[in-house]
Amino acid sequence: MEWEGSGYGKAILIGEHFVVHGARGIALAVPRKTTVRLGKAPSLRFGFECGELLKEATRAILERVAGGTDFEVNVESELPVSAGMGWSASYCVALARAGAKAAGKEIGDGEAAEIAFEGEKVFHGRPSGIDNTLAAFGGLMLFRKGEGPKALEAGGQFHFVIANSGKKGATKELVEKVAGMKEREPEIFSWMVREEERIVDEAVSALGRADAAKLGELMDANNALLERLGLSTPIIDDIRKIALENGALGAKITGAGGGGCVLILAADAEGAKKIAGKLKEYGAFEFSVG
Ligand code: PMV
Repeated sequence: MEWEGSGYGKAILIGEHFVVHGARGIALAVPRKTTVRLGKAPSLRFGFECGELLKEATRAILERVAGGTDFEVNVESELPVSAGMGWSASYCVALARAGAKAAGKEIGDGEAAEIAFEGEKVFHGRPSGIDNTLAAFGGLMLFRKGEGPKALEAGGQFHFVIANSGKKGATKELVEKVAGMKEREPEIFSWMVREEERIVDEAVSALGRADAAKLGELMDANNALLERLGLSTPIIDDIRKIALENGALGAKITGAGGGGCVLILAADAEGAKKIAGKLKEYGAFEFSVG
C-alpha cells in the first residue's frame, strides 16, 4: 500500500522578507512539483539522503496528520533544493497530503497548508507562511502573515523565466540578518516597508490590467530594496544584466536571496524562450501565469 501527495514550488513576485514583518506580498505557484510517497514501515525511515531538519519536520507533520511516524518516505522533485523556490514547503505540503491519505483523512488545500506550516517552522524558524500557502493552493496570491491568502486574478498572460544562481543562503539566517537591520535602522526599514506596500498595490493593479511593462518596472523596484538589504550577489547581478539586455521587462531576486533564483518577466512567450536560452547555464526555464 502506498500513499502519494504533491505540492507546488513557488516564486515570490513582490515582497520577500517584508512579509515576515507584516507587509503584504504577492507570490505565484511555479508549475513544478515535489511528490512524496509513503509506505508502511516498522519505524520512520527515508529512501533518500536527508539531514536532521528534514527528519524533524517529517516527524512533526506525520505525528500531526497521521498520529504516528511508522512510514518509509520517498520523494521526487522537479524543483531545485535551497534555491528560493520553496522546495521545503512543497515537500511539507506533499507529505501532509500523503500522510492524510495514509490516515484515511480528506484534507483541503487550507488544511494541507496549515499542517505543512508545522514542518516549515522546523526548517525556517519563523516563516511567514507564504511558501506553504502557495505550495498547497497554487495560482497567484496576495498574502499577509496571519491572514487568509487572497487569490488574485491576472487580466492576461504573463511570461516568466526563472534562473538559478546556485545555492542560496539559509533562509533562517537571512531573515535574522534583515531583522538585525530593522533593529539598527528602524526609520529606514519602515520607509522600505511603506515603499514595498506601494509596490504591492501597484503590482496588483498592473496584474489586473495585464500591464507587463509596469509589472517589470515594479519587480526592478522591489529588487532595489532587496539589494539595499544586502541580499544580492554578483551572480544574481549578472543574471539580471543578461536578462535585461535580452529584452526582459524586469528581474528580481525571488525568495530569501544570498544566491538562489532570479525571477524574470518577459514581454511575451517568444521573449521568455529567448531569455531562458541565454541563461541556460543557470538552469533557466520559462512558464506563464494567467
Ligand atoms: O528562499 P525561500 O524559498 O526560503 O523564501 C523565503 C521567503 C522569506 O520572505 C525570506 C521568508 C518567509 O518566511 O516569507
